[in-house]
Order: sequence, then C-alpha cells, then structure tokens
Amino acid sequence: MKLNRLMMGAALAFGLTGAAFAQTSALSPTPPMGWNDWAHYECRYTADTILANARALVSTGLAARGYDRVTIDDCWMAKHRNAKGELAPNLKRFPHGIAPVAKAVQAMGLKFGIYEDSGSETCGGFAGSGEAPSGGHAHFKQDMRQFASWGVDYVKLDGCNVRVPEGVSQNDAYRKAYADASAAIKASGTKMIFLESAPAYFQGTPAWYDVLGWVGQYGQLWREGSDIAVYNPKHPSRSRFHSVEWNYVYNRPLGRYQKPGNWNDPDFIIGGDAGMSLAQTRSQVALWAMMSAPLVLSVDVAKLSPASIKVIGNKAVIAVDQDKLGATASLVRRTPSSDVLLKWLADGDYALAVFNHGKQPVNVDLPLTDLGFASAAACHLGLRNLWTGARQTDVHALKAQVLPDDTVIWRVRPSAACGDATHTGAIVMTVPGSWKDPAARKIDNYARCLSAKGAVERCRGDASERWTASATGQLHANGKCLAEADGQPTLASCAGSAAQHWIYRRNGNLVNAADHRCLGVVATKAGPMRWQMQTCGHNVATQIWSLPG
Ligand code: GLA
Repeated sequence: MKLNRLMMGAALAFGLTGAAFAQTSALSPTPPMGWNDWAHYECRYTADTILANARALVSTGLAARGYDRVTIDDCWMAKHRNAKGELAPNLKRFPHGIAPVAKAVQAMGLKFGIYEDSGSETCGGFAGSGEAPSGGHAHFKQDMRQFASWGVDYVKLDGCNVRVPEGVSQNDAYRKAYADASAAIKASGTKMIFLESAPAYFQGTPAWYDVLGWVGQYGQLWREGSDIAVYNPKHPSRSRFHSVEWNYVYNRPLGRYQKPGNWNDPDFIIGGDAGMSLAQTRSQVALWAMMSAPLVLSVDVAKLSPASIKVIGNKAVIAVDQDKLGATASLVRRTPSSDVLLKWLADGDYALAVFNHGKQPVNVDLPLTDLGFASAAACHLGLRNLWTGARQTDVHALKAQVLPDDTVIWRVRPSAACGDATHTGAIVMTVPGSWKDPAARKIDNYARCLSAKGAVERCRGDASERWTASATGQLHANGKCLAEADGQPTLASCAGSAAQHWIYRRNGNLVNAADHRCLGVVATKAGPMRWQMQTCGHNVATQIWSLPG
C-alpha cells in the first residue's frame, strides 16, 4: 500500500541496473546490525577484548535483538605482509591469529566481520590491501580469499592512502579500487557484505555526489562522512553527542541514495557508552532508526547500564530501523531547536519522531496536515510511544514535550480518512563549506531551508518552509506551485504546465522541465540567499536539494 515512493520524473533513475540491484539487495535487505571495537577501543584491544564483548552481546540479550555480528576494525594486522605476501596478524593482539577468534565468535552463534583498507596502508598505518604508493598490484583477491577462509561475511574497506596515479581523477582511482575489491569478494566464493568507506573521503566536494552515485553497484553500505567521536580514556566524561548530531545532519539529506540492499552509514552507535547520557542514547538510536541506518554498536558492552540496554535493544525501535521499505525519514519541520521526522513503513504505519536539539524543553503542537495527512475531520491517528509503550487514540494534533537532547519516537497508525500522507516537509540545501570547520558543524549551519518567499534561510519551521512534493513532480507551498517564469523561480497557481514540473535528479538537482535549468541560489549582500534559475553545474552545492519523500 505504501510502495508508491516519490518518483519525480524519469530522471530519477537510480544508476543501478536491475541485475546489480538484485545481487546486492539479497545480501543485506535490511540495514546491518552488530558490534565493532573501534569507537570505544581504537587500537587498545586484544583478542580477549573482542571475545569479552561477543560474550556480553549474548549475555545482555542484545545479540538476540539483532546485534549479532562482531567486526574487528583497524590494527588487527601487522605493519607488513609476511614472506608469502599474506596479511599477518599483530601477534601481540592475536597470538594465535584471527581464525580461532572468528571460530570462537561463530561458536557463540554470532557472525564475524573484518576491516581492511583500499589503499597501501590502513588509516592506522598497517598493511593495506591496495596498491603501493609507487604502483604495482593490489592484494584484493588474495586478501578476500583469506577472509573467506576465516568465515568472514562482512568486510569494511576503508579509504586511507589510496594511490591516485597521475592523470587519473581521485574519483576514478577510488572507483577502480572498490570495483576491484568487489570483484575479489565475488571471486572468493563467499558472500560477504561489503562496506565501502570511499564517499567519506570526498565529503563536502562536488565529487562526493559522484562517488555516492556508484558505491551501490559494488557494495551494500557506505560511510559518507566524518567518524563518530571515539571514546577518550583520558577524558571519559567529555560529551560525544556533538558528533551524533553532526552525523545525523549530514546523513539524513542523503536518503535518495539508499534503498533496501544499499545503505547510507552514518557510523557507529555510541549510545550507552562514556560521554553519552541516556537521553542522548535515545536520540541516537531513534534517529538512526528513522534513517534506516546500520545499527553497529561500538561500546564496551559489559559496561552498558540496564537502562541503556533497554534503549539500544528496544524491539519496536529496532523494527522501525529494520522496516523493509528502507526509507529515510522526511524532515517534516525544523526549528532552531527541534526536528520533526516522519518515516514511511511497509505495513502502512508511519514512524514519527521529535528530536530536541536545543537547550530548553520543546513543546510541539502540530496539526496532522503539517505531517501531510488529509484535513478531513475523521482523520485521526493512533500513536504508540516506543520508549514508554504509552498509547494515544483519536489524536487530531501531535502534542508533545521533549526534553533537551532527547527524542520521542512513536509508531503511528492513521485512520482510513487520513489517506496516505503526502510527502510534506522542509526542502533543505547544504551550505557550501559548512562541513569543513568543526566549530560550524551544527544542525543550523549545515542545512538551510527553502522558503516559499524565495529565500534560503536558517530553518524556522514556519508555513513558508512547508513543501509538498507530488508524485507528478510538482512542489507546492502555501497552496501554490513552484514554477519557472521569465527565467526566474516563482510561485504560481497550480496549472500542471511543464514550467511547474521539476525533475529530481539523483545528485539532488531540481531541473525545470520547461527550461531544463536548475533551481539554485545566489548570495545577496545583506540577508538570506535568494533563489534563481541557473545553468546546471557539476554537483554545485547551491543547486543540490533534499526533498521530503
Ligand atoms: C577511519 C574510519 C574509522 C576507523 C579508523 C581506523 O577513520 O572512518 O571508522 O575504521 O579509520 O583507523
């Protein structure tokens, strides 16, 4: 019933051939779940650490909830290959090698994953699988065969130290490395889920969108950006929540790259670990679930409090994450202090969340039409708060109070009179350069909202920022349609003409069907950026939009 996803024109062709998609989707139809050592331990671990965490996943019940794959990240290997040219384990960490650890993990009923790098060295400076800096051959075939012999079913391939030969673009060099690694996995004869870190090495550049355009052909998930903050034993109580907010804010607008079998990966769940409060833990798990993000814990599992285990292992929230539509939540509304998100679920329900990213409690009071439901008097919702289990029936407006850093998440069932929700919410643009300065990595600075007043401004959440994207390629706000007239964007009475038809390209361009130019923005001396019709450039940040849908 809810499979009518937004398809705005034929140009929304997802770059995947049917065959390639069928192949990749079968491996990971829902976002991967599990545990990885990196964000808690970095290189401060041994085989015992891995096994202790594996046991804790089982004893806490988290494995049974789906967190059932243990992946060893960087630093497991020696600096150099052995005399036979094979990867060798670091014997201090793994005195008996990797194979017995993999076996022990599997004997607990868990799956086993491993880390390597598509360059000459890993990010930690250990032997990589890729070409040497001076050229030569990569080791993908040999390494993937070795991983297969250990029973590995998940490979994270990082992207440090990738050789970019002269005359070759960085994009092409990475693409070749990841394509070769993907072919090597296939040739190994073992099915392995393939996590590609390639896009993270292009974040904030025009080529980012090119890389995001091809990763789905070779693997099942990819890291698009910055690492989540790691635990610092010298400053255990230092908050790590800023990185959760940042990874959420760069990941959510990329929903158009994701579909069942192919997942954006905003990095590990650090909820429950040092530097994260319980409210922040709820926020991370809820936001990741709203984005259908992989749920890969990277914490000291044995130290999780019973309350954090309850949050991380919440079945109903996990079900939202693992929903088979694999949708990314629309941003229904953003104010300086809160985000309201709505996600389509396969059985006709919706998931709804309110995230308070401000400093004061937030009171939300939204009519159902703001969520995209029909204005009929008989339209009402049944709501279940997924943290408390509390149910509300006959809901005619969303009313809630959310405390700072916290996220409330509900499962919503609309009455028949509501119809399917339309794709309603904010249209956001990434501010060029905003990702570079760590101090500017704030929700408010990174993304701006398109206002029907013709400006791109700090999101306020007023009616002028509420757009509905129709299946026929129209964009409505305030009852009018976005149109091109006399070479400029404008709002006009809806007429269904080509000038009011927008083709949503996969890179995020909104192309006008009449003049084939892109909706863009131009800076003004004072005040916000103004909209403008522009010749489409190559992934120009001010021409890239994230739509509700
Ligand atoms: C990169 C990755 C991290 C981790 C480290 C290991 O920073 O993004 O997730 O794998 O390398 O060195």
